Amino acid sequence: LDNSLALTPQMGFNDWNAYGCNVSESLIESTALAMHNNGMQAAGYQYVNIDDCWMTKSRDSAGRLVPDPAKFPDGISGTAAYVHSLGLKLGIYEDAGTATCAGYPGSLGHETTDANSFASWGVDYLKYDNCNNQGISAKTRYTTMRDALSATGRPILFSLCNWGQENVWTWGAGVGNSWRTTGDINASFGSMLSIFHSNVGLASYAGRGGWNDPDMLEVGNGMSATEDRSEFSLWAEMAAPLISGTNIANASATTLGILTNSRVIAVDQDSLGKQGTEVSSSGGLDVLAKPLANGDVAVALFNENSGTATISTTVGAIGKSGASSYTLTDLWTGATSTTTNTISASVPGHGTVMFRVAGGTSSGGGSVTGAVHAVGAG
Ligand code: GLA
Repeated sequence: LDNSLALTPQMGFNDWNAYGCNVSESLIESTALAMHNNGMQAAGYQYVNIDDCWMTKSRDSAGRLVPDPAKFPDGISGTAAYVHSLGLKLGIYEDAGTATCAGYPGSLGHETTDANSFASWGVDYLKYDNCNNQGISAKTRYTTMRDALSATGRPILFSLCNWGQENVWTWGAGVGNSWRTTGDINASFGSMLSIFHSNVGLASYAGRGGWNDPDMLEVGNGMSATEDRSEFSLWAEMAAPLISGTNIANASATTLGILTNSRVIAVDQDSLGKQGTEVSSSGGLDVLAKPLANGDVAVALFNENSGTATISTTVGAIGKSGASSYTLTDLWTGATSTTTNTISASVPGHGTVMFRVAGGTSSGGGSVTGAVHAVGAG
């Protein structure tokens, strides 16, 4: 969406995966403070996002949404002021139907009123869900809110959450800054794997200002550390929004180490804005390549199976040529090595090895144009 936001995929936190309906001002503010102090903000995490269940069950006499005063004693505006004081931004959740998925008032028919409320409260990001939509076209409903947000004059990142319906990737770039491509993730390898398979083929629709969204991260929520590193690697390789969904104030050192790996984050946030593609996939062993702005290529070797396997590719297969030797940096260990052609690693079951490959030229690379990707933007 041509609103100058999400020129690289958005990074932040959302409470839903770890807390469900138990959102509150104290949770949002303590999470924001933890992100401020634990290295996440410095690593690029910017948005602190409220999900469903933040409001009362009915609108006020003027038709406006009302923050639940028990959960948000200082309102959304007070919460936003605190989050902003830390240098972070605040996100909120609503729904493009008559009610949210948890049964709170939806924005369908109230788009202007609600967008004005969000802007007046200091909201910086809207996740817009798809429950109770009365069978009205998603493109119509989401476009109405896009225009209402734009009319407020406040920059508000617009995150479409219609679960891939109506092939949202074919029109999402004109309506939002990101679009969910699938149903909800859960903290299991199987869920993460099936979402990866659905999202990985959609690379041609992603670019600066508009991203495929394979849903929020489950890192820290119950998968093994190997599986958590795979999710983070694959999401970065797919230029996905990196929205942590874990208990950040109590996150382990392992979880924080994954979430703040600057080498992997740099792949996600690369200014060329290309989603990585599958170079090969056979027998559950996948090779992905993502061209980067400086001509390097980020390679992910992902083992879907449970046993250790060797996964191999070549510099030619990932689009590189023209050098007698290439440098590989392992993005998880930091180790460097050189190769003349083969890129190969022993990868544990459910694991991912990620390399940044430098040297020669890249067929998929090139200079950054700065153009905002906006197919059919209004
Ligand atoms: C839907 C969305 C989830 C979450 C819940 C909240 O299921 O896809 O991400 O926002 O609604 O009710």
